[in-house]
Amino acid sequence: MGGAKNAALPMMAAALLIPGRSIIHNVPHLRDVVTMQRVLAQLGARGGYPNHSFEVDATELTQVEAPWDLVRTMRASIYVLGPLLARMGRARVSLPGGCAWGPRPVDLHLRGMELLGAKISLDHGYIVAEAPPGGLRGTHIGFDISSVGATGNVLMAAVLARGTTVIENASREPEIVTLAEFLNAAGASIHGHGTNKITVEGVRELHPVEFDNIPDRIEAGTFIAAAAITKGRVNLVGARPDHLGVVFDHFREMGVDLTVEAQSIQVIAPERLQATRIVTAPYPGFPTDLQAAFLALLSVAEGSGSISETIYPDRFTHVPELVRMGADIVLSDHVATVRGMSKLSGAHVTSTDLRASSALVLAGLVAEGETLVHRVYHIDRGYERIEERLRGVGADIERIDIPGP
Ligand code: EPZ
Repeated sequence: MGGAKNAALPMMAAALLIPGRSIIHNVPHLRDVVTMQRVLAQLGARGGYPNHSFEVDATELTQVEAPWDLVRTMRASIYVLGPLLARMGRARVSLPGGCAWGPRPVDLHLRGMELLGAKISLDHGYIVAEAPPGGLRGTHIGFDISSVGATGNVLMAAVLARGTTVIENASREPEIVTLAEFLNAAGASIHGHGTNKITVEGVRELHPVEFDNIPDRIEAGTFIAAAAITKGRVNLVGARPDHLGVVFDHFREMGVDLTVEAQSIQVIAPERLQATRIVTAPYPGFPTDLQAAFLALLSVAEGSGSISETIYPDRFTHVPELVRMGADIVLSDHVATVRGMSKLSGAHVTSTDLRASSALVLAGLVAEGETLVHRVYHIDRGYERIEERLRGVGADIERIDIPGP
């Protein structure tokens, strides 16, 4: 299994807090990782990543600006806000725009920085943040919504703040736990990560660190779904079953046989998947990033199932494309109700974002005839060489270049 994209990105930003050379192992070769590397280089933190190990030296930061042309390609660039404020006392970060499924505000990130004492303003599309004299001050921060990004950003800012910060209703995602473990390995003092109450004792300085990233649970879920939808059998090596609790429950409910062994997960699909009902939620609830993949599974399952999307209510841009392939999906009030079909048919479909494209590829694996997934570059943001790895387990899939208009 590849390393977790959504843990690698905040850890790369966190390296900005560390004067010296840090190494993060098991970093996937993905477009988003390259974008974060470019953002860091822009700030003066140079590094490379040979063989899935990202090495960066942030001894001397020369800039505090994360420019529009990089941030617009990847919202996670906002993760440099906290580290820059904490380490440099100021930051200028382009305000991320919306995405395919609507607005994605960063108000919780900004409110967290303000509670830590920063002055925040907006200037020509840029967030301008100034720490008070003497630096950020520890405080109590309660989030109205459990946000992965805001928890990560505030955590990184609080690490060098004076005094204690308590984050309530914090994100419990494994990616945030890994970020906290990375920072603690660099000399931070964080407790309670993995629960919804995290306490950070500010320290004066961090030190260089070498750290192993976790495997990507969303990628693992996607590959299990590929085996499930094709009535296949695979052995998944290197995944963390403990990060996939509720996901495993739904796979098993659909009839997928999952056996956890020492180093691997054995996956045996049933002759026909059974429908299930899913509600997405913050971890340890069902991950919204696997919603699209499970919608593809439900499209060919026996019976009627449903998925309620509570994190991004409008994250259903893949539905019309699945319907073009013959799926029976009705959307109402952020719930997709699916009547499983015995077969789908291949078609030209267009992906709108990373996880939507994975669902279209899954549907294409079982559809009759050929499916052409356009704008597949989205998938490269989160899956490394997906077509090669699927071909490696028997899929008939290839990437073709279609000349532009
Ligand atoms: C992270 O995004 C992931 N991205 C997303 O994965 C994932 O879908 C999401 O968490 C939820 O699990 C990365 O880790 C890089 P949030 P993030 O802040 O941090 C609202 C993928 O496919 N909110 O937990 O942006 C927000 O609108 C990506 O790999 C505010 O209102 O998600 C949403 O409804 C896509 N104000 C909810 O909170 C804020 O300031 C959860 O968002 C922040 C968030």
